[in-house]
Amino acid sequence: MTDCVSDALYRDTVFLDPDLNLSRSGHVCFSMKVLFIGDIVGKIGRQTVRALLPNLVSRYKIGLVIANGENAAAGFGITEKTAVELFGSGIHVITTGNHVWDKKEVLPYIAKENRLLRPLNFPTGTPGTGSIVCAATGGERVAVVNISGRVFMNTLDCPFRTGREEIDRLRKETGVIIVDFHAEATSEKRAFGYYMDGLASAVIGTHTHVQTADETILDGGTAYITDAGMTGPATSVIGIEKDQIIERFLTLMPRKYDVAEGKAMLSGVVVEINAENGRATGIQRLQITYP
Ligand code: FE2
Repeated sequence: MTDCVSDALYRDTVFLDPDLNLSRSGHVCFSMKVLFIGDIVGKIGRQTVRALLPNLVSRYKIGLVIANGENAAAGFGITEKTAVELFGSGIHVITTGNHVWDKKEVLPYIAKENRLLRPLNFPTGTPGTGSIVCAATGGERVAVVNISGRVFMNTLDCPFRTGREEIDRLRKETGVIIVDFHAEATSEKRAFGYYMDGLASAVIGTHTHVQTADETILDGGTAYITDAGMTGPATSVIGIEKDQIIERFLTLMPRKYDVAEGKAMLSGVVVEINAENGRATGIQRLQITYP
């Protein structure tokens, strides 16, 4: 296993002594860490999570694990069986996006399982929910929100207005709010991050399956990355067998796609948050190859 971890970005506190949670000024800081795992693709992605997650949780002292799982079932969509498997691997909340309905059998399950989110800004009446407030292992209340962009994607309700309304509502319950912004355009993602600065603890982009190197903490205390990346086959075109995608570009003909095989990678970010005020104090990118 090789482990490629970016330099952590710090603001004021943390990572100094995770047991004592002391800031540089000596003030006791009630920090917590959230692990966000980028889009899990297929069985190979699920197996990688199962193999690596326990060690990551103990190594980084993670209090809550969130993962985007919209491609967890054979590369397209998610089912009850795959969601249950991911929850059993230690993931607390699963987010999704434009592929959430690819496996239609998820409909009755998502209607009753509120830890499996779908984008908040789908039309009113869509099954499932776009947010949840849950308890981290340290007891901190954490809200998770799933919102979809709409540039080069389906035309959903405005993610900015819908997201703002929901976060204003959630802030009455907790200041620790993690947003999965599932979107294609980097412009929309960065604009959304700045729009949420000071309102959410973290805005983490998903959907492109390619991890970006722009992780930062914005001026208002919101941790941000344009895309957390993919958890699935390393040698692939966003998870799919590369030769199949090359053929598609050469011929422009439709064809069946298969999740690639071989070496896998887990991509994601660890975000450290001051649980007293909801402000992020650190963000660190992870890209780990497996086996
Ligand atoms: Fe997507």
